[in-house]
Amino acid sequence: MKVILFGAPGSGKGTQAVMIGEFFGLKRISLGDIFREEVKKSTDLGKQVKNFMDRGELVPDDLVQRVIDAYLNDERFILDGYPRNLNQAKALEETLKKKGKDLDVFIYLEIDSQTIIERLSKRRVCKGCGANYHLENMPPKKDNVCDLCGKELFQRDDDKIEVIKKRWEVFIDRSQQLLDFYEKKGKLLKVDGSGDKDKVFQRIKEKLPCQKL
Ligand code: AP5
Ligand code: MG
Repeated sequence: MKVILFGAPGSGKGTQAVMIGEFFGLKRISLGDIFREEVKKSTDLGKQVKNFMDRGELVPDDLVQRVIDAYLNDERFILDGYPRNLNQAKALEETLKKKGKDLDVFIYLEIDSQTIIERLSKRRVCKGCGANYHLENMPPKKDNVCDLCGKELFQRDDDKIEVIKKRWEVFIDRSQQLLDFYEKKGKLLKVDGSGDKDKVFQRIKEKLPCQKL
């Protein structure tokens, strides 16, 4: 089973990818997390991607491709945040084809811009294990401390209001081509991303083509 989880910034990709991954036994591959780890370690790659991420822009396709290919060897995975434009979608198709593989489903989490601003401006992330929280919808049991590993929580650099707006613009600009691409292939699955995380997950489970799991 090979799944792509697509949606605007804050649509809940990270939250749902963890739930889908655990439930269906799929490895979660988040390019945003991979890049943030490189930035944290201050590697060459981290230094190259930081400026793009801080501005809310996409990292250039050649850098993305250099990184992602190494992660596509598993039989069962869910991609969180890749591909994000038509170029990346075509490159992914080519890479999988070379490995004799194909994608099963492209899930699009639909959400409005107001909800996104509300979710992202109150998101907190664990410094240790990367778990996601929301100050009101999914607060940690103890203020500013991760329920899972006990480390401190922080606010992502790109969760400032002006960067959130830029990320939304970038998303709107690139998304339609991608949706058309996967719709033509009969792989597009639209899911309403509003409501609490369990409700969204329930909708995904009901719609996923279970015979392929
Ligand atoms: P990335 O880290 O992927 O960021 P993003 O796409 O902007 O999405 P987010 O991670 O912000 O949101 P999410 O959809 O995962 O939502 P979450 O579950 O956290 O990418 C960051 C950057 O890396 C990009 O801007 C780009 O620069 C670069 N990059 C990455 N991939 C790239 C690519 N392919 N090509 C080029 N560049 C790339 O939820 C958000 C908040 O809402 C949380 O607080 C959560 O607790 C809460 N929440 C989630 N679900 C619900 C719910 N149902 N109800 C209430 N609250 C909820
Ligand atoms: Mg995410």
